[in-house]
Amino acid sequence: MNKYENLLGDNKDWAEVRAQNSAKLIKKQVDMLKTQTDMAEAALPLHKSVYIGESRHSAERNKIFLNQPLVACLSGDIAEPGTAILFDAAGPSIIVSRGKDGQARAFLNMCTHRGAKLIEEHEPWSGSSKRLSCPFHAWLFDSDGKLRGQPGKEGFTNCDIGQRDLIELPSTEYLGLILVRANPDGEPIDAKAFLADFAQALAPLELWRAEPVKKGIMTADSNWKFALDTYGESYHFATLHNSTIAKTNYNDKNVFEPFGRHHRVSFPSFKLRELLELDEKDWPKFDAGGVHFLFPNTVIFYGSVAKDMFFTQVFRLFPDGVGKTICHFAVYAPFGVTSEEHKASCVAAFDATANVVQTEDYRVASHGYANLITAPKDHHVVLGANEPALHAVHKHIAEVIGMPLTDI
Ligand code: FES
Ligand SMILES: [Fe+2]
Repeated sequence: MNKYENLLGDNKDWAEVRAQNSAKLIKKQVDMLKTQTDMAEAALPLHKSVYIGESRHSAERNKIFLNQPLVACLSGDIAEPGTAILFDAAGPSIIVSRGKDGQARAFLNMCTHRGAKLIEEHEPWSGSSKRLSCPFHAWLFDSDGKLRGQPGKEGFTNCDIGQRDLIELPSTEYLGLILVRANPDGEPIDAKAFLADFAQALAPLELWRAEPVKKGIMTADSNWKFALDTYGESYHFATLHNSTIAKTNYNDKNVFEPFGRHHRVSFPSFKLRELLELDEKDWPKFDAGGVHFLFPNTVIFYGSVAKDMFFTQVFRLFPDGVGKTICHFAVYAPFGVTSEEHKASCVAAFDATANVVQTEDYRVASHGYANLITAPKDHHVVLGANEPALHAVHKHIAEVIGMPLTDI
């Protein structure tokens, strides 16, 4: 699992790296508060078909969800050899399993006899893959995908269509992320090239140590990008979240840091107010969290619920049709659960966040989506220059699918 080695040097003191990262981010946030929020060059109109277009949806299904590397889970979700999870939100039903050799692999959840599902569940499912027995005729597969048993084996002699092990998908494990390309004919994943500089921002989170605490599903009656947009700007804090986030964080202030198609966007807390008047050398130490966006659909948020009690939240958004979003949401104890109190605080972080996201963010996303359907055919929504993270996401998706954002 130690795929982080050689990234920033072995034996890093990651807590120290995290503290240095945090200090740099705080400095950026304070500088931003003294000047103005990070801005894109200009407002960006998006034609309504960006969200409601069927052909666009098909292009995203194919070029984004079947062919981009996607986060299937974190390393800790299949910590032990012989454990597995299901990953079926991108399209095909996929088993992600850790073999006896410790390696994580992804396979189509499809028996190589006549195609039945080996695991007849849906994500989120986790369990054992030590022996996967097909419910149809009882072919037996190992956690490394090898065919180990065929009742009536003599019926399959003289069959020359190749071995009948499970069909493996491109996958890799890096920095605690298990990345999968949901296309068995797709290219292998080069995680270092895929993450590039973003690895420098992700590595200090030590995702390879994260221990899962609670998982669930949130849904929105909207296009997946409408739901995703709600994670990338703080322009809505004072209104939509006036009784929650707006009590702790500035409205309409963000530091936006792009890393290729990925980014980190952070929203300063009111704790920074006191720093505005102080010399930098007198600043008390604060932990700065942030929204880490992994192109195309994953948001990783690292933060604290109480002093020295941190959590990592992972949101993975998928389309379930053009107008429905499924968000797989999971909360982890970043460096393992340290106490019952810590575990309870992670559960509380899950419940509180799920409630806000579902009843506030996804509520307005659903309303916006419904309204766009009946809006005039040439209607555009508009992203303000003060929402730079959203510009980046939409431009990069448009680039991958080869479709314009305006004048459609
Ligand atoms: S389809 Fe799986 S054993 Fe026949
Ligand atoms: Fe929000």
